[in-house]
Amino acid sequence: MSISQHQLLGLPAHPTIMKFETLAIHGGTIISDEKQPVVQPITLSTTFHHREGSPTYSRAANPNRDALEQVLAMMEKGQAAAAFSSGNAAGMAVFQSLPAGSHIIAPNDMYHGMRKQLEEIFHGVLEVSFVDLTEVDNLKEAIKPETKLLWIETPSNPLLKISDIKVLSAIARSHGVKVVCDNTFATPVFQNPLMLGADLVMHSSTKYFGGHSDILGGALITKEEDTFWEKIKNVQITGGAVPSPFDCYYLTRSIKTLPYRMKGHAEHAGQIATFLAQHPKVEAVYYPGLKDHPGHQIAAGQMSGFGGMLSFLVKGGAEDADRLISHLRYFTNATSLGGVESLIERRAGVEGPDTLTPQNLVRVSVGLEHLDDLLGDLDQAFQLI
Ligand SMILES: Cc1ncc(COP(=O)(O)O)c(C=O)c1O
Repeated sequence: MSISQHQLLGLPAHPTIMKFETLAIHGGTIISDEKQPVVQPITLSTTFHHREGSPTYSRAANPNRDALEQVLAMMEKGQAAAAFSSGNAAGMAVFQSLPAGSHIIAPNDMYHGMRKQLEEIFHGVLEVSFVDLTEVDNLKEAIKPETKLLWIETPSNPLLKISDIKVLSAIARSHGVKVVCDNTFATPVFQNPLMLGADLVMHSSTKYFGGHSDILGGALITKEEDTFWEKIKNVQITGGAVPSPFDCYYLTRSIKTLPYRMKGHAEHAGQIATFLAQHPKVEAVYYPGLKDHPGHQIAAGQMSGFGGMLSFLVKGGAEDADRLISHLRYFTNATSLGGVESLIERRAGVEGPDTLTPQNLVRVSVGLEHLDDLLGDLDQAFQLI
């Protein structure tokens, strides 16, 4: 769905002048029903009358997916978006659009599911160098003539490392290398990688976009509808890993509250990070909003808020971390992130034996429960270990 089509879809003539909160509410509204419901109906039909301007088949396009893709493109300030059935499917569409033999540079602490794809599914097809992208020189050293793609993830999962999108993108661009940024942790509320030089943004919309831990989804947003984007759209439509109309509807609905949810997540995460940083049973806290975080200056320059994710090292080891988690009442010991409910997990236990994550690292998705309850819960759990 191209932004130039907005007027056709009944949006205000100048969507770019809408403030972010307004965009999140109105940017995904496409009403074609002549009875003019305020909320877009869910179109379940998989096929459509052959008419000019109508979709033909729902794997290729569906009104609810059009609406979702429209608001995603607008929020990330891109020309177009493509929605997928999961974040991993979105990432995979990028890799599938590269010629065989391409070289990719990715962060050495890349989200482990994406890393697994590159190592296992694309083994023998694509070549990958995993490097620490917090050091810009590492990128310069890793670029080769076959390098086609730079993958950035900032803040990273689960170490909350910060990479300089502007500087890394400029280097990649000077070598003709495409840049993709996984913006799942920051969301477009706090960071717009396309404005900093990236060519594509990737999201697990399962996280903050969905916001309620009940929709699996992914998205790509492009700065330009170029030939690489055409390949990605072909993977989306012909490959067919697309979300259902229900999922698209619920995501578009959840996005309406994204700006306000993110403000709450970030406020709570900042306060909890400060509490943990002063706690005698905590070895280290990783939150880019803390002034002593090694990436704080870069984060402050490229983000307008520091997000709702943090991680910390419990003094002792994995057993102490597990004991702490077992005493919590409001932080559910579960994987994933970005929902209104607080989630916590010892990350290395989930990532498996080859993980680079310290064994005593606990990752927290800070929710929207009352801050006093969250701080009180952590306080009582620490007293029990
Ligand atoms: C940063 C990041 N990227 C990508 C993904 C993959 O998304 P999904 O689980 O929706 O496939 C995740 C999932 O946890 C993630 O945290």
